[in-house]
Amino acid sequence: MSRAYRVAVVGLGKIGLPVAAQLAGKGHVVIGADVDAAAVASVTAGTSHVDEPGLAEAVAAAVRNRRLTATTDTAQATRSSEVVIVIVPVVVDREKKPDYKMLDAALRAVGKGLEKDALVLIETTLPVGATRNHVAPILERESGLICGKDFYLAFSPERLYSGRIFQDLARYPKIVGGVDEESTRRAVAFYQASLDAEVRGVSNAETAEFAKLAETTYRDVNIALANQLALYGGARGADTKEAFVAANTQPFSHLHRPGIGVGGHCIPVYPHFLLNDSRTGELELVRVAREVNDGMAARCLGWLDDAMGGLGGARVLVLGLSYREDVKELSFSTALAVIELLHRAGAVVLAHDPHFTAEEIAGLGVEVVVLDKPVAVDAVIVQAFHREYRELDWARLTGLRAVLDGRGTLDATTLRARGVTVISVAQPPGP
Ligand SMILES: NC(=O)c1ccc[n+]([C@@H]2O[C@H](COP(=O)([O-])OP(=O)(O)OC[C@H]3O[C@@H](n4cnc5c(N)ncnc54)[C@H](O)[C@@H]3O)[C@@H](O)[C@H]2O)c1
Repeated sequence: MSRAYRVAVVGLGKIGLPVAAQLAGKGHVVIGADVDAAAVASVTAGTSHVDEPGLAEAVAAAVRNRRLTATTDTAQATRSSEVVIVIVPVVVDREKKPDYKMLDAALRAVGKGLEKDALVLIETTLPVGATRNHVAPILERESGLICGKDFYLAFSPERLYSGRIFQDLARYPKIVGGVDEESTRRAVAFYQASLDAEVRGVSNAETAEFAKLAETTYRDVNIALANQLALYGGARGADTKEAFVAANTQPFSHLHRPGIGVGGHCIPVYPHFLLNDSRTGELELVRVAREVNDGMAARCLGWLDDAMGGLGGARVLVLGLSYREDVKELSFSTALAVIELLHRAGAVVLAHDPHFTAEEIAGLGVEVVVLDKPVAVDAVIVQAFHREYRELDWARLTGLRAVLDGRGTLDATTLRARGVTVISVAQPPGP
């Protein structure tokens, strides 16, 4: 029999808010805590500041039923809760080292409010060993309590995909690993009372941390392989897209798609959590995969430069600024590297993305384009193929000479019939 818990969710962002709404929907009494006063005000008013299918309705219902409230006072939220979920990002700095600033601030506040017997659940992706060696000491120092005796601590990664978070919450097994057996047991019991998905307790916190890093790194390495295979196949007249679809009919083959770059704050970031504490010679494949994927943008622009006879002075339109299609998310987006490379090559950079305002786009130092009237461009780079681009009237792009299909998603037939050169990562000119 499941029971209702008093829960604090620290960090009401793209993942934290849906998690808070999910917990409230399961009957728990949830307090969301965030340093962003506007986010807290929005939740308090029963609205969602995060764009996610089903979230606005879930937040409205949870606030109406008094199952969800919000505060900027994390210590107070912690004090009145039996379970505290922390979901505040850890990113990497310029040297690709984990940057714990935001998480540590949140943990200090949690520590100040931590009561005896509370269960703390870290859902932020962390390097292996960080729950035990980084999180626990901060909580102990701030609270004066002892981990494993006075309070319990477990790590449980979020593996959700923006745009379908509630479906993923219902079907992805929840991996849970505590710093000791009792922490794992309590964490498993809590998640079983909170999710419809299977809850899978693993040996310890390190195993749960490693599972998340192994999964994201697998995807990065897979994409690097797809990129290299595409270069090889393209240079030999093979249609890579068709070849991969054919190859993946073998159940052991899961080739991902080649592309102009890997973005977002997961896949290009978390391999560094492993690489940072790897010994010389360890994880070489992971290191090379990162280099391959990070090098794709420059390689693709090289092809475009060749096709155009130089990019200097050319008007180049970047379609899609988000790191992937159909979301608004600029963090670690390949669009940023593409814009920088184009500027360096002397091109005039134009950009369009239906998810961003004109001010947000102009803030990137590019010309803002609207696509409902003719616009003069020499080349287009498809960086994120948002669903809006499926109906794009390419005839509005006057003077168009070349298209770089950075996601291998375009049907190039009509463009080629109009004399436009189309270069696709699915069939690249070669290494
Ligand atoms: N976004 C994704 O697609 C995704 C997918 C899987 C896992 N994750 C995990 O979820 C974590 C959070 O991601 P997100 O997309 O929700 O981030 P986000 O940037 O959308 O939200 C983070 C929230 O934390 C708040 N915050 C920052 N410092 C704080 C503090 N000291 N106290 C309280 N709140 C604070 C911010 O104001 C913000 O609202 C990631 O680091 C990752 O580990 C994210």
